[in-house]
Amino acid sequence: MICKITKKKIKPFMTFGKMPIANGFLRKNQFKKEYFFNMEVGFSKEISLFQLNDHPAPKQMFNKNYPFFTSSSKEMVKHFKSYANWIKNKYKRNLKNLIEIGSNDGTFLKNFDDKKINLIGFEPSKNVCEISKKNGIKTINEFFNFKNVRKLKNLKNKVNIIAAANAICHIPDLISLIKGIDFLLDKKGLFIFEEPYLGSMYKKQSYDQIYDEHIFMFSASSIKKIFEKYSFELIDIIPQKTHGGSMRYVVGRKGLSHISNNVKKILREERIKNIDNIKGCLSFKKNCEISKKKLLTRLNFFKKKKYTIAGYAATSKSTTILNYCNIGSNYIDYICDTTKEKIGKYSPGMHIPIVSMDHFKKNVPDKIFLFAWNHKKEILKKEKNLNKKNKWFAHIKI
Ligand code: TYD
Repeated sequence: MICKITKKKIKPFMTFGKMPIANGFLRKNQFKKEYFFNMEVGFSKEISLFQLNDHPAPKQMFNKNYPFFTSSSKEMVKHFKSYANWIKNKYKRNLKNLIEIGSNDGTFLKNFDDKKINLIGFEPSKNVCEISKKNGIKTINEFFNFKNVRKLKNLKNKVNIIAAANAICHIPDLISLIKGIDFLLDKKGLFIFEEPYLGSMYKKQSYDQIYDEHIFMFSASSIKKIFEKYSFELIDIIPQKTHGGSMRYVVGRKGLSHISNNVKKILREERIKNIDNIKGCLSFKKNCEISKKKLLTRLNFFKKKKYTIAGYAATSKSTTILNYCNIGSNYIDYICDTTKEKIGKYSPGMHIPIVSMDHFKKNVPDKIFLFAWNHKKEILKKEKNLNKKNKWFAHIKI
């Protein structure tokens, strides 16, 4: 495989096998023509970058049927409000033009209610883009890349902040993205983005963070090395609780900003924990195999006891667990979800029926597989009458 940044050859260190599109919920008549790819991962030693090898073309994933809406989680809505407030407090004086990459339904930008700030969202998926526009946010229905960005001639070197959350790891051509950022940012402009953290994935063994949309799993080391190649530098890092452990990275033009102590501290931690080198990948691989065996042993035990099992939340992440471990309707009767675009369809690859929350309430199983483990607090609060010992489980410790 070829590293997506250095363009040098690297050797994949593990495969998760045949994978469908993680958000490709489908109807029965679409089973036969379902798309699969071999989900292999590799690591560039030169820039410490954990990445997918083969993946579907972005247009196959982010289109008019994209079924993910940021506003589907109350906790995420709260998080985006505090993310926006953090930016407002820290950079208010200079804020005239702000762009968000992957603005989804406008949940983040909505918080900047100051008419003096020119806000623009880039969102390639048409359906979520329409919702964002209805929310009154200026949204461009395009991918954020150099080709599309250079059309914004009047904003050349005028943008103060480019922000993103859970979007950059979805973009295979990071070089074009960085060229776009370089074109737009003013001299002191900052690129601020949040991403699920490689170190947290290793720690929790949450390999389900890897799926077609997540082309990269970033760390501070990889971000530092990638941006240094393009005359930018990592100036701050702030750990976040979202998605089971994320990082907020702040990147500015080289030599123009103070570098926070956090950067040095986290880079050092990554060296000690082998997050910046291939050793971390190799133990992760071993741990994935152990985790798969443990999960199947547990499910077989439940079956032997004649327990009914259902999944809670048809997340993209669950596609990786179900397909990697080969878990279908033989174990799990259904997966319930709040998203109307998913209900009535089947899960990608393993074809487990997706049902409404109403169905769940009328058919509560003996055991509930929490696929949205990252929203545990919010979900258990909502389902407090089901909060009994040993009822909920996941492939990781919850
Ligand atoms: P998330 O972990 O954000 O998804 P992904 O792995 O796809 O990035 O979870 C989003 C999905 O979970 C979405 O399909 C809605 C569903 N969900 C519920 O059904 N109920 C809930 O209470 C929450 C928080 C999410």
